[in-house]
Amino acid sequence: MKIIRTVAEMQRTSEELRLQQKHIGIVPTMGYLHDGHASLIRAIRQEVEIVVTSIFVNPTQFGPSEDFSTYPRDLARDEHIAQQAGTDIVFYPDAKEMYPDGFKTYVSTDTVATILEGKFRPTHFRGVTTVVAKLFNIVKPHMAIFGQKDVQQAFILRQMVRDLNFDVRVIIAPIVREPDGLALSSRNVYLNPQERKDATALFRSLKLAEELIGAGERDAARVREEMERLIQSVNPTQIDYIAFLDPDSFEETRRILPRTLVALAVRFGSTRLLDNAIVDSK
Ligand code: PAJ
Repeated sequence: MKIIRTVAEMQRTSEELRLQQKHIGIVPTMGYLHDGHASLIRAIRQEVEIVVTSIFVNPTQFGPSEDFSTYPRDLARDEHIAQQAGTDIVFYPDAKEMYPDGFKTYVSTDTVATILEGKFRPTHFRGVTTVVAKLFNIVKPHMAIFGQKDVQQAFILRQMVRDLNFDVRVIIAPIVREPDGLALSSRNVYLNPQERKDATALFRSLKLAEELIGAGERDAARVREEMERLIQSVNPTQIDYIAFLDPDSFEETRRILPRTLVALAVRFGSTRLLDNAIVDSK
């Protein structure tokens, strides 16, 4: 496995690989890799000849009061996990090279970036779309993979690829969970033992939604109420949102649809946890 640290070397390497007719896949990450990231690497490995895993804690997607400086980092461990999962190249750029003094151009998506996560993190998705657009121009991938875990991010990145004609096929991988249902996340390390236990309430509330919908409930507000009750029973710091959406348009719905995306964000202390599920009502 090769480690590339500069934009110029990455661009040159990708150009050469493309001349050799190699198909390149990218797995964009912010590092502190876990089995969710590894599942993305393993999945794209099946589709392309060269897997590039990028590791970059992207400053532009963090708000001023967020955890950019304390975001967990461990490159040695990341290298090991990336290699085990089947990465050929780790791209590990420098923030000063990605965002030199005088950087002024951003990519942003309308409307869908302003709801749910966008309400709580107003500049977050602009940072995500900007860095992924840059990574696409640097790594020149044929394919990119993102996790369903960050479902709004995946939706927005697909929209960006369509709107800006990036010649990149985007695939989405399912959520990898702990045995007790908690979705894997680099931020889970922030949870204290009690919070870690309580955090299963997110997954349990999604299971409850599935049950209610399976039993015929079609009023989203009623499902939300029951989910809220379950989550409030573990005394989280705050429920930021529980949303019901059409997974194809990302529009919120009051009625349960044949396929409904149920997405939620809950805070334990200053740690925000996200989870979601697509629930079929047929
Ligand atoms: P990061 O949080 O490191 O996540 C990298 C990728 O791993 C994302 O596509 C995310 O959805 C996926 N992922 C995280 N947890 C997962 C899980 N439990 N199961 C499956 N996939 C999971 O998301 C980002 O980084 C950044 O915003 C990025 C896209 C790299 C842009 O900076």
